[in-house]
Amino acid sequence: MSGLQGKRVLFGVTGSIAAYKAAQWVRDLGKEEALVDVVMTAAAEKFVTPLTFAALSGNHVHRDMFDEAAELVMAHINLSRDADILLIAPATAQTLAKLAAGIADNLLTAVVLAAHIPVVLCPAMNTAMWTHAATQNNLLRVRQLGYHVVQPGCGSMACGETGDGRLAEWDCVREALLSLLQPADLSGKKVMITAGPTREPLDPVRFLSNRSSGKMGYALARTARRRGAEVTLVTGPVALPPPPGIVVIPVTTAEDMAEAVLARSDEMDIIVKSAAVADFKPLACQSLKIKKTGQGLQLDLVKNIDILLELGKKRRKHQVLVGFAAESHDHVEEGRRKLSAKNLDLIVVNDILGPRTGFDVDTNQVSLISRSFSRQLPLLSKEDTADQIWDTVATFFNDSQIESLS
Ligand code: CTP
Repeated sequence: MSGLQGKRVLFGVTGSIAAYKAAQWVRDLGKEEALVDVVMTAAAEKFVTPLTFAALSGNHVHRDMFDEAAELVMAHINLSRDADILLIAPATAQTLAKLAAGIADNLLTAVVLAAHIPVVLCPAMNTAMWTHAATQNNLLRVRQLGYHVVQPGCGSMACGETGDGRLAEWDCVREALLSLLQPADLSGKKVMITAGPTREPLDPVRFLSNRSSGKMGYALARTARRRGAEVTLVTGPVALPPPPGIVVIPVTTAEDMAEAVLARSDEMDIIVKSAAVADFKPLACQSLKIKKTGQGLQLDLVKNIDILLELGKKRRKHQVLVGFAAESHDHVEEGRRKLSAKNLDLIVVNDILGPRTGFDVDTNQVSLISRSFSRQLPLLSKEDTADQIWDTVATFFNDSQIESLS
């Protein structure tokens, strides 16, 4: 289940060439089972037809404040009453100016003025218009009025120029919507998450590593951020884009990861170690490529530092420490052993042999084990699994439930 499933999104489209991108976003929202109602300004209709948005949203498109034939009387009031969130994308300089001044001269601007729901604005315009003092003042004002602005990107634009003012990427907008639709129960918390594998070099071209994709750790980072946390993500090499709004610290070896994590651990309220840290590394990394000799090759491996064990030793009071365990058998027993050996509050035990769990898939099935409970979660997306982990961690902050061992 996505955090957008069942959410009612009122989607305002204004007159910018970027309106064609909004059509895809309506489709994306639909795929996540959000319920979308579109309001278009007259200028927006010059770029994309209402029929396109009606087909993609599956709903009649609202266009006119004084449409007597429309089924909604007082549409400017009623439309936002039924919605969870109002998204305006693209938002032109003209619409921003109207919203800054409280002008309600078309259905969309009137809806905004009457809305009691979060309003998210995604500006898109030519760079000169974007950087103009009038637009920047309007932005300041709409923020003061409590509207949320998703910063436009920088890049080449339809007008042929390159610069700021490009409509933001959907990923950033989706994160903004999810943040506003979720309770901010991790607000004010500093959270550090580790993700991905580590690589232990053998020679200039080879390394030892494992199959971790980083998807679980990245899902934890995104979901924590949505719930209001200040997130630092220490990540081994993965093929995932950096999640928006998160401090990302890329590392390669277990030693790099240990250095990055231990240097920051004291200031963290919550640390989640979902990285698959290599337990062993080559005794030495050869400076020249190891050549074939016609014989086999024996590698001398030495143990890597156990970062989580070190964190468990130095943890401070009220700091919550969460570990992961990738197990093929005796899941609960192994989880309990590691929970106690590493001085943790919670351990998330992964079944690495399940067909839709473990490495490089988007779903997971885990057990959550604390000192006082053990709970098996159903097969879920990694984002939903992450949310369940945060639901549990959030309960640790009710004083009586902190299982601090320090
Ligand atoms: N971990 C770590 N540093 C290591 C190895 C593991 O911080 N050098 C952390 C992982 O990030 C994970 C937890 O320890 O949160 C459990 O890792 P796992 O490899 O499953 O457990 P081990 O304690 O290494 O035991 P084993 O490999 O024998 O199962």
